[in-house]
Amino acid sequence: MSITVKLITANCGKIVPFNVHEYVANGGYKALRKAMNMEPLDVISEVKDSMLMGRGGAAYPTGVKWEQAYNIKGDTKYIVCNADEGEPGTFKDKVILDQDPLRLIEGMTIAAYILNSRKGFIYIRGEYAKSQEIVNKAIAEAKKQGYLGKNILGTDFEFNIEVLTGAGGYVVGENSALIESSEGKAGRPRMKPPYIKVSGLYKKPTLVNNVETFAAISYIVSEGGKKYRSFGTEFSGGTKLVCLSGNVVNRGVYEVPFGTTLRQIIYDLGGGIADGKNLKLVQVGGSSGACITEDMLDLPLCYNEFKKAGISIGSGAVLVVDDTHCVIDFLEHIYKFFVHESCGKCTPCREGNKQILRIIDKFENGTADYKDYENFNKIIKVMKCTSFCGLGKAAPTALDSCLKYFKDEFEEHRIMRCSAGNCFSQGEV
Ligand SMILES: Cc1cc2nc3c(=O)[nH]c(=O)nc-3n(C[C@H](O)[C@H](O)[C@H](O)COP(=O)(O)O)c2cc1C
Ligand code: SF4
Repeated sequence: MSITVKLITANCGKIVPFNVHEYVANGGYKALRKAMNMEPLDVISEVKDSMLMGRGGAAYPTGVKWEQAYNIKGDTKYIVCNADEGEPGTFKDKVILDQDPLRLIEGMTIAAYILNSRKGFIYIRGEYAKSQEIVNKAIAEAKKQGYLGKNILGTDFEFNIEVLTGAGGYVVGENSALIESSEGKAGRPRMKPPYIKVSGLYKKPTLVNNVETFAAISYIVSEGGKKYRSFGTEFSGGTKLVCLSGNVVNRGVYEVPFGTTLRQIIYDLGGGIADGKNLKLVQVGGSSGACITEDMLDLPLCYNEFKKAGISIGSGAVLVVDDTHCVIDFLEHIYKFFVHESCGKCTPCREGNKQILRIIDKFENGTADYKDYENFNKIIKVMKCTSFCGLGKAAPTALDSCLKYFKDEFEEHRIMRCSAGNCFSQGEV
């Protein structure tokens, strides 16, 4: 199996991103034409066959989500693309937004056709100003060429897309917070149920999918769900965009078939650890993901295999950290981020992240004791079980995994040693 394939990144770097003619010349809008001549349930069936799982992090089966959205009654339904991309170490959606936005637009238009929706929104993170500009240009061009707006492809199907600017918080990427923010309110998660699919934007049924998820649709519809699925493993169909960053030679976004191992991603694509150093840990799925060690690198990218190993693929971020870094110092950065990004709505997350950071600081300054392990474990349990949204539930994952795989470093710090030399002067006092 080749390590990279270009199913959804086929046009990236190859065409002018908002040039509809170039997009069409490269197979663009073939899928929309095909979908508009199919029964909606047959299109959904292809998506189900593809085994496409939501690429925003939660890995919910897209075909099932579309079928549920189809079955929900309502004259007005909205299609929303989550392009908030706030997970640290994640920059894959930006590649699609900047280099092939028409593929995303086509995916959303197919969803709109199936659900009989007339309006879609692409919620793009505020920091991606350039991406917003490119996507707006692509929308305008698609409209000019009859692929958006009234009478799409000469039929009475009408669909329009508007770009919304993200409000700047990590939690706004959570789908209900994104809907709140899209309505002009503070971007905080909503109580569920009712679920977004039933009562989302302006209380109307709403389909929310990630950029990469929508971008996979045109391939699935034009080539068939089974073909897409054949690129992956038995349980994870197709390809995944991975974001390789940190202490690795070739950082970047790579499209890989499911089944590719982390070792292949880091060493074959990434060129290995930078500056001839050794690997300490790999954090998979962003700051809310687990930190794993070298001996787990032969794990194939597959939702099931990862689950069995107790970790998650999440957004597809793969952050490589070399052994000149200290785990405690690394965790301090992560929990500063979570303290900053917790929206404060619920106590377990608001206070839990602060308490984790406080105890990490104790390990960093040599004042931690045995009881702090117990405190860590209590906080982790409470946050995972009782936080209101996914941010608080996932935030303790990094700490939990480091306590499992790097306990010796906590112990070193407890007796005021830091073999990486990041804490305490000269690494040891
Ligand atoms: C704190 C938090 C942040 C999230 N950020 C994003 C994001 O930036 N982009 C995204 O697509 N999904 C994000 N999600 C997941 C969304 O809630 C939702 O599952 C996703 O947009 C659904 O699309 P999908 O089924 O195509 O993955 C986030 C979830 C949480 C809890
Ligand atoms: S878990 Fe609670 S405090 Fe944390 S972001 Fe979600 S709602 Fe806000």
